[in-house]
Amino acid sequence: MTLQKEVHEFIPIADTILCGNEEKYVTEAIRTKWVSSKGPFVKRFEDAFAQFVGTRYATSVSNGTAALHLAYHAVGIQKDDEVLMPNLSFIATANAAAYLGAKPVFVDVDPKTWNLDPKKIEEKITDKTKAIVCVHLYGAPCDMSALTKIAKTHQLPLIEDAAEAHGARFEGKTVGGFGDLSAFSFFGNKIITTGEGGMVVSNNSQLIDRVNFLKNHGMIPEQQYWHPEIAFNYRMTALQAGFGLGQLEGIQKIIQQKKEVYKAYLNGLSDISSIEFQQSPKNSESVWWMTTIKVPHRDSFMNVLKRHGIDSRRVFYPLSQLPPYHSSESFPVSEEISSSGVSLPSGAGITRAQIDYVIQVVRNFFSQN
Ligand SMILES: Cc1ncc(COP(=O)(O)O)c(C=O)c1O
Repeated sequence: MTLQKEVHEFIPIADTILCGNEEKYVTEAIRTKWVSSKGPFVKRFEDAFAQFVGTRYATSVSNGTAALHLAYHAVGIQKDDEVLMPNLSFIATANAAAYLGAKPVFVDVDPKTWNLDPKKIEEKITDKTKAIVCVHLYGAPCDMSALTKIAKTHQLPLIEDAAEAHGARFEGKTVGGFGDLSAFSFFGNKIITTGEGGMVVSNNSQLIDRVNFLKNHGMIPEQQYWHPEIAFNYRMTALQAGFGLGQLEGIQKIIQQKKEVYKAYLNGLSDISSIEFQQSPKNSESVWWMTTIKVPHRDSFMNVLKRHGIDSRRVFYPLSQLPPYHSSESFPVSEEISSSGVSLPSGAGITRAQIDYVIQVVRNFFSQN
């Protein structure tokens, strides 16, 4: 079979789409000299983001890891506490607990959604457990109905790591609105970006006040330069916020594109029985940040894509296998997804011709393997 290579040069895994007034707002920040973390754009971006998620409050930070660190800190996680989280996530989910001297305790994931398996949480709860963290992996919402119930029963704070899932919905409600605190990332490959950046959202004013205090060197608002504890500088700049505000204007378009990309891959590949797509739970809408599939011979599959100018990305290693968190405990589901999972090019700017080309290359691989 001859492949139609002429349609493109290189197909990246993700891209940045400029779809609002990013340039105008950043220029305005420069022109007015409000380039640091003060000035109108920070507040405007926070207010617009809170409205987008549907929470009362949002506070911007320097990146998604800082958002998690502050969220864990604000709910009171301390040295030697245990924090439950899925074994399949980016390392930042665990690192933010380790920064506080706490121990990440891993829970295996659901074989279809690849997210925290609610059936496996309660057996891991001990006297030391201080929070449950769920991660909406690759844009697919967790089962928030089960998770909120478990958190409530055990009176544990629930934190959403929504770094990859801006705009995803569970039973009609936008993710980020379920947890006591939720964290978002605006890294360059995320649904929307500010270059680097993050946001903490909540409906709880006390928790948000605590995050604001912690991100600003622990200075109390009433008394300039009075710092009752050691804290952090995790503030976002107005340049980032201006860019983010522009991105937010186009977010629905980006999400729609991401969904179309997933649908196109599903239509083009679902008859190949050895490919398994990540699924979104019942009554939910994933934003499909990355269309991710399980395939046999994953590493040679990725090599073939690369030879055809197609970028791809392996699924994260299970956190329990990474040196800082190494454990001999077995997590069969996350281990299997990690060893066979691969994300396909999922940028919102990918063209139909490029998707068709990827499909063609994938189909060709499976006709020979
Ligand atoms: C699930 C998850 N959590 C946290 C982060 C950390 O975000 P950041 O890179 O903005 O620090 C990321 C992304 O990088 C992520 O994918």
